[in-house]
Amino acid sequence: MAQFESKIRTIEWMDDCSRMVDQTKFPYEFNYIDIKTGDDMFDAIKTMIVRGAPAIGIAGAHGVVLYAQELQKKNLSFDEFKKELLKKSDYIVTSRPTAVNLYWAVEKQKDIIKNCTSDIETLIDELKINGKKLELEDIEINKKIGDYGAMVVPKGATILTHCNAGALATVGYGTALGVVRSAYANDPTIQVFADETRPRQQGARITTLELVMDGIPVTLITDGMCSYFMKKGMIDMVCVGADRIAANGDAANKIGTYTVAIAAKYHNIPFYVAAPLSTIDTSIKTGDEIVIEERSHDEVTTINGKRICADGVNIINPGFDVTPHELITGIITEKGILKPDYKESIAKVFE
Ligand code: MRU
Repeated sequence: MAQFESKIRTIEWMDDCSRMVDQTKFPYEFNYIDIKTGDDMFDAIKTMIVRGAPAIGIAGAHGVVLYAQELQKKNLSFDEFKKELLKKSDYIVTSRPTAVNLYWAVEKQKDIIKNCTSDIETLIDELKINGKKLELEDIEINKKIGDYGAMVVPKGATILTHCNAGALATVGYGTALGVVRSAYANDPTIQVFADETRPRQQGARITTLELVMDGIPVTLITDGMCSYFMKKGMIDMVCVGADRIAANGDAANKIGTYTVAIAAKYHNIPFYVAAPLSTIDTSIKTGDEIVIEERSHDEVTTINGKRICADGVNIINPGFDVTPHELITGIITEKGILKPDYKESIAKVFE
């Protein structure tokens, strides 16, 4: 199967810092920023300089290395160093609560910390090597997801996506947009409809940007328009990413995904979730256990820094919702497409 090479590299470990695309300035600026301390990495994740479940996983792994480099200057014993670094690792995970990939990647670094018996320098080298390994694996995993997903994309399909599950939400290829890239490499007649994705407009600001950069046809629509186009027969398939998937297949993704899934079900349009196995949290039985991030009210009351509503209105701003497994046609992973019954297919893929 032909593969598409994306030009985008979202996050990369350099010699002693983490280089990432600053996603807060899109679409006006496309700049890289070097993150040099653990606390700056915490803030970069929290303020969404880096965002998207797999990308913040890698950011978390890099954050552990940055804290390690700082602690190295403190003349601690090896045991004290490990103890402090484990504390910092647990802290960085608290920067955003919903995407399990952050926890998953930091746990991988914690395993290295716990198992290392040599010295501080060796431990830091091992953490750097592992960070790099996770980065490169993410691209390979995404390409596999893309290839499996491409098999279920109808010829000439219009694929609707919500939020950004693309190269800019991962290290460099994308999950839902990885499916789009792989499908497009084999069938350049496919196209994408991108939901705007209020409040942070990841669809408008990020998905359209990366697809235009890669020359893949994309049409921007606002969030309320999806059922209109589904009824007109203009959407053939929905493909979205996920931040955490429970053992029964319930999938948390950007707020508004659930609405799209209901509309797709009503119109008999296949609704796929594309995600690496690291997004599946088998420790939770259903989506009810997923912690939903509550974000700043300013994201709702303003657009581009300008207030769009009356003073004194009440605001609620959950960052994610959970799509019940009954609405999901398949979960596209690097090990193939999981189908209902998800309790069984998920358990089997982790055997
Ligand atoms: O708040 P964000 O921008 O980090 O939310 C991103 C999403 O919801 C993505 O769809 C999800 O993380 C999957 S990314 C491959």
